[in-house]
Amino acid sequence: MVTATRPEQQVKIGPTKLLINNEWVESVSGKRFETINPATGEVICDVAEADAPDVDKAVEAARAAFNSREWRNMSATRRGELLYKLADLIEQNIDELARLETLDNGKPLHSSYGDLKLVIACYRYYAGWADKVQGKTIPINGPYFCYTRHEPVGVVGQIIPWNFPLLMQAWKLSPALATGNTVVMKTAEQTPLSALRVGELIIEAGFPPGVVNILSGYGPTAGAAIARHMDIDKLAFTGSTEVGHLVMEAAAKSNLKRVTLELGGKSPNIVFADADMDMAIEGAHHSLFFNQGQCCNAGSRLFVEEKCYDDFVAKSVEKARQRTVGDPFDPNTKQGPQIDQEQFDKIMSYIESGMREGAQMLCGGHRWGDRGFFIEPTVFANVKNEMKIAQEEIFGPVMSIIKFKDIDEVIHLANTTMYGLAAGVWTKDITKAHAIANNVRAGTVWVNCYHVFDAAAPFGGFKQSGMGRELGEYCLEHYTEVKTVTIKL
Ligand code: NAI
Ligand code: MG
Repeated sequence: MVTATRPEQQVKIGPTKLLINNEWVESVSGKRFETINPATGEVICDVAEADAPDVDKAVEAARAAFNSREWRNMSATRRGELLYKLADLIEQNIDELARLETLDNGKPLHSSYGDLKLVIACYRYYAGWADKVQGKTIPINGPYFCYTRHEPVGVVGQIIPWNFPLLMQAWKLSPALATGNTVVMKTAEQTPLSALRVGELIIEAGFPPGVVNILSGYGPTAGAAIARHMDIDKLAFTGSTEVGHLVMEAAAKSNLKRVTLELGGKSPNIVFADADMDMAIEGAHHSLFFNQGQCCNAGSRLFVEEKCYDDFVAKSVEKARQRTVGDPFDPNTKQGPQIDQEQFDKIMSYIESGMREGAQMLCGGHRWGDRGFFIEPTVFANVKNEMKIAQEEIFGPVMSIIKFKDIDEVIHLANTTMYGLAAGVWTKDITKAHAIANNVRAGTVWVNCYHVFDAAAPFGGFKQSGMGRELGEYCLEHYTEVKTVTIKL
């Protein structure tokens, strides 16, 4: 199927069924649900809707694959080759995947290409790890030979969000597969399409049946069935802190499956008066508005030193006003629509709350256009750290600028939040940079840059931003169990 509103928007849709055991199947219930183009509000197509019985089928397939000779006896090098092959196939289909991502998610096409570069790099990075995961020999007391093996955890349930569909799929699948696990993945209900197309490429790459199963479906049904399943050994979740609490509780009440969580954030981005101002203004703009503001690590609390506050605010407002909003397939577009009506309404209610609490709205604040879920780039000044817009995750194009006096005050304010995902600092003074890097409680600190991601650099949260780390070598420990073997000599 090809959608055709305008020729340059022609997008090939790909599979719309569930991927279980390397086969495309309808759901047990036969139900399907619609996925919407957020730029128009129109239906793109419908996809098979998984629920608990489909999760059971997928887990059975994943368990059988985990126990199969083919997967268990496969050399680590061969697992790496399969991941390299998958990366190559994604690269060969990059145009098709980028368009599909933009159609289903609404992000500008150039952003989809940017995501895909990271996707490909991520599969290759973990392909390289496959045959480098190893244990130790340990000199214990007595006539024994003791060593450790790093074995796969087993069947892994993975629940991913809609803000970076292909990238979140890559972050989760690649370390799991490199270390020899099998996977049941549930994509976000807003964005099922691109992950299914990658499912086709997974089959083409040669992964054995049941190693990767991909389900489209809703959180409280299919997602909850994964979280409470008795035969899933580990759950990796990315999404809201609210649902993070739920899935962890479900894991505790079922089989104590291991849990890693990558949740929300309210990341401080701190600008000192001695910073390179042009760079800081550009960086603060990017840190917040990138991806329509729909980033867990968005620089959503922007702290600016008193001495440069007024100038910084004026220039930031100017920059926000100039941000081009519109058709995500237009190469000039910087900002597309929000993902859906629910997120649109939530963001608009935060804008109202900011005005009610006395923050000063200097631009934006309204719907953009007359269809789809677009919101004007919005800037609030004179924000206080206690306000709702400075404490809760807005997940939209709404910048909140807070004034600070000195470094001690800003460290205190930066840490006054339940979150701890990321932070940024802009300064030419290396002492201040280190003071922020060492004292702000967050999983990532960017100095004179923001949103710099690399498959090799770990990412994850302090406090209620989650637990565990994705990416890098650190992620591997969450996908392996350590086994101690002791042999009498
Ligand atoms: P969500 O947390 O409800 O959805 C994320 C994933 O969890 C989706 O796949 C969803 O189907 C699944 N899910 C939902 N309820 C579940 C349940 N009871 N059991 C198992 N899985 C479940 O996030 P939503 O509703 O899409 O967005 C709400 C807010 O969450 C956003 O406004 C934003 O603040 C935050 N969020 C954070 C993300 C991040 O990257 N950390 C990504 C998406 C949303
Ligand atoms: Mg939700």
